[in-house]
Amino acid sequence: VTAEKGGFEHFMLKEIHEQPKAYRDTMRGRIDESGKKVVLPELKLTADQIKNIRNIQIIACGTAYHAGLVGRSAIESLVRIPVETDVASEYRYRSPIVTPETLVIVVSQSGETADTLAAMREAKANGAHVLAITNVVGSSIARDADDVIVTLAGPEIAVASTKAYTSQLIAFYLLALYLAEVRGTQTPEAVAQIVAAMQALPEQVESMLAKPDAIKAYAEHISKHEHLFFIGRGLDYAVAQEGSLKLKEISYIHSEAYAAGELKHGTLALIEEGIPVIALATQEAVLEKTVSNIKEVNARGADIMAITHEENVAGLLKSVDQAFAIPKTLPLLTPALSVVPLQLLSYYASLARGNDVDKPRNLAKSVTVE
Ligand code: G6P
Repeated sequence: VTAEKGGFEHFMLKEIHEQPKAYRDTMRGRIDESGKKVVLPELKLTADQIKNIRNIQIIACGTAYHAGLVGRSAIESLVRIPVETDVASEYRYRSPIVTPETLVIVVSQSGETADTLAAMREAKANGAHVLAITNVVGSSIARDADDVIVTLAGPEIAVASTKAYTSQLIAFYLLALYLAEVRGTQTPEAVAQIVAAMQALPEQVESMLAKPDAIKAYAEHISKHEHLFFIGRGLDYAVAQEGSLKLKEISYIHSEAYAAGELKHGTLALIEEGIPVIALATQEAVLEKTVSNIKEVNARGADIMAITHEENVAGLLKSVDQAFAIPKTLPLLTPALSVVPLQLLSYYASLARGNDVDKPRNLAKSVTVE
């Protein structure tokens, strides 16, 4: 068993460490020889179809849904097409507006999630072009979709998804860049800059994985708590939601992810002396606003850990108890880095609580019932 785990104690830790490879494998063959452009030769979607897309709907469950939240930002900011994101179990029941100019993107590691499959069938029946982002080539979702972008994360065994999520982010970045190229919404220079930054991500992840000690110590600290909060704005909020889900799944600590600015509309009532708050503060454009929300929880005695960039650490330490710096990339790509310490945090918190990390109670790797 240890051999299958490549020397790691659990599949989850092994899979966290496989992320640099998963990023590289998912990018391979999808960036042209100049290193400046995205090519997606697998797509049947024609340039004309791409030019005619009027709206995009992203549908998925669980962690894949959280990847979709980042995908929405990537597509809206780079391509300027309106994007909606839905959890698959809700999608069909809200009469979504689908036309032949709708691109539906379904995201599923396994390609077998019943709710996602049912939602995509409904979208297809209503005339949408369905593109699947999945990790399993021969899966039901891959077979039923009009187009498939395969994530090359390799088999994911741990119930808590890690490398599948980050590979889905890479797939979304590639897709958004490709759509932007076809629709001419970004200059070739802008595309080249993002592609270059993407190619640096695997090494940046490696540098974080080489230094787990601070996160491990913090995980042991929070493992003694029953409730905690994640806060962030923009893409930090999207990552906060994934961090919170990961922690719940395997540590069984109750946590909530809040859009930092929304706290004062209710949830702030739950902040009391000593409650851990994990503040994601990586998005420079909203940093000042996030800092003012950090001050709100600090004033109520919260025990705050910030995830940020090196240059913000000193300033933040005036209002937080500790700060963890992640490597710097473009704001849009930051989720592919900022989620890594949160994955490690969940892993070590689960371990500290003596839980079955790879097989958490009540959960299944793939949910094939609606
Ligand atoms: C299950 C898993 C989650 C996963 C979700 C969607 O609930 O426990 O980790 O995110 O299904 O799975 P999919 O295979 O569709 O990505």
